[in-house]
Amino acid sequence: MVQMHLPTAAPIVAITQDNYRTRTLTLDARLHAQPGQFIMAWLPRFDEKPFSLVAADPVTLMITAVGPFTRLVHELTVGDRLWLRGPFGQGFVPPASGGRLALVGGGYGVAPLLWLARRQQPTAARIDVFVGARTAADLLYVEHFAALAEASSSIHVHVTTEDGSRGQPGRVTDALAPRVAAGEVDGIYACGPHGMLAALSALGAAAGIPCQLSWEAYMRCGIGICGACEHEGKVLCLDGPVLKRTNL
Ligand SMILES: Cc1cc2nc3c(=O)[nH]c(=O)nc-3n(C[C@H](O)[C@H](O)[C@H](O)COP(=O)(O)OP(=O)(O)OC[C@H]3O[C@@H](n4cnc5c(N)ncnc54)[C@H](O)[C@@H]3O)c2cc1C
Ligand code: FES
Repeated sequence: MVQMHLPTAAPIVAITQDNYRTRTLTLDARLHAQPGQFIMAWLPRFDEKPFSLVAADPVTLMITAVGPFTRLVHELTVGDRLWLRGPFGQGFVPPASGGRLALVGGGYGVAPLLWLARRQQPTAARIDVFVGARTAADLLYVEHFAALAEASSSIHVHVTTEDGSRGQPGRVTDALAPRVAAGEVDGIYACGPHGMLAALSALGAAAGIPCQLSWEAYMRCGIGICGACEHEGKVLCLDGPVLKRTNL
């Protein structure tokens, strides 16, 4: 399947528990999509919400239970169905080859970065992945990124927690800043909370490093009609969620 314009039922074929409030769902659906694009997931007679694609073939979603919709998704089991529309939006556009890439994920923001790391691994000169969370219990996909690093000498994983319970104490920006200052980063690709993205934008601007940042917003239609997702003059479901800042 290339694009699903109308909600299409996708049975769940596998579920893994990633942390105390996050699960990864693998669905019996295939899309033609890019890392950073998202789908709208619908539960009939309930609600529809946007989620990044962790992978498109098969469609894989990481879902953190934060409210009514995501809690209901967590009650689904293998064989139950989610209805999907998409893919939507603009994904990450890394260099075709070369480059020293910094991939920065906060919380469930790591979801699109695992796919991006896998896709760029054969061609990038170096990929530094920064995975951050409040505590060790909140970290996501560290083992997935570590497995990539084991298999490829060009991938390096840096873990931060704000309470110091795992990895470097502090925020992902604290771990990234020295590499930026040393001139070791050619581009920043990030997804996470707005505060983290704003800090990365400022870091990139100060150093003259292009940034591609995936912004979250409340979304309804997903196709540029309702205006729910406006952010700094952009319609994030169409122009984003990944916005590019060249800073140069
Ligand atoms: C482009 C895009 C990609 C997204 N990708 C993902 C993804 O890969 N995985 C994922 O889990 N979510 C993702 N989201 C967010 C997801 O759509 C929302 O979390 C969703 O609205 C939750 O719906 P809900 O009804 O469960 O909770 P809501 O009622 O919408 O939210 C419940 C409460 O939790 C707060 N809240 C929302 N998110 C968080 C959070 N992360 N931590 C703490 N509090 C929070 C809300 O402000 C609200 O007060 C994405 C959003 C966008 C726009
Ligand atoms: S969600 Fe409707 S315009 Fe973006």
